[in-house]
Amino acid sequence: MEFSSEIGAVQRRMAQTQEGVGRRKATFEALNIAVGQQVLDVGCGGGHLLRDLALSVGTEGRVVGLDPSNQQIEAAKGHCQDLGNVAFSQDSATELSFADEEFDAIASIQVLEYIDNVDGALSEIRRVIKPGGRLAAVSVLWDHWHFHGPDPALNHRMHEAFKAHCFHQMLPLEMPTKLARHGFVGAHCTPIGFLNNTLHHNSFAYLATTLFTHFAIGQGIPEEDVRSWREQLDEAEKDGRFGFVSVPVLTTAIAA
Ligand SMILES: C[S@@+](CC[C@H](N)C(=O)[O-])C[C@H]1O[C@@H](n2cnc3c(N)ncnc32)[C@H](O)[C@@H]1O
Repeated sequence: MEFSSEIGAVQRRMAQTQEGVGRRKATFEALNIAVGQQVLDVGCGGGHLLRDLALSVGTEGRVVGLDPSNQQIEAAKGHCQDLGNVAFSQDSATELSFADEEFDAIASIQVLEYIDNVDGALSEIRRVIKPGGRLAAVSVLWDHWHFHGPDPALNHRMHEAFKAHCFHQMLPLEMPTKLARHGFVGAHCTPIGFLNNTLHHNSFAYLATTLFTHFAIGQGIPEEDVRSWREQLDEAEKDGRFGFVSVPVLTTAIAA
């Protein structure tokens, strides 16, 4: 997915919804952060988790936000500008410029599914984390990411078009085996699913419709069909038939 556009701004707004906060809270708690630690956020986006991590490790610690997108790095810098213990790396997770065993803990929220060579990224993550260090990674079960309400045939076309937006639709299913192969132990998956019943303007679902329409048009669905799908969502909401379901999964593991 390309984040160097208006889509990046929508993604950062999604991170600030209550559902975005929920994912960060679950990730933060799984990392068991202590003062003085070195922590890496892989695919830091707008830096929302990064800020919480930096405040937690204190001035004795250091956090690094890694993201290949210049626009996301600039947004994260702005979000953390008053903190002196935050560094940035504009790189891909598949080629980390850090020393072996540099980090005590590593987080990554909704990033790994976008990386074609996800095994390359996990290998690099294992290289730069200390033995005993914690990894907390959230990825979405995209086959279950679903709008309910519009005409089923049109709705199906829209969902099929959206599949092109990331490489790994069901990565959480594969994570425990992949992590064991890359030198982690104790992998554990926790679903943090949610249902939106309304399209209020700070709902995850409302912002997700923007992403969905962008990708559907990009995948060749005629604009009038996309507009009709969007109107049908509003009608379904008025009739009490609307729903949006997402199942992000937090996977935790310890470096062996
Ligand atoms: C959905 S956003 C999530 C951002 C942030 N983790 C959050 O929860 O708000 C996905 C992020 O992954 C980044 N990304 C894409 N490919 C990447 C790669 N190869 N290595 C690291 N990050 C990548 C994107 O630039 C984007 O900022």
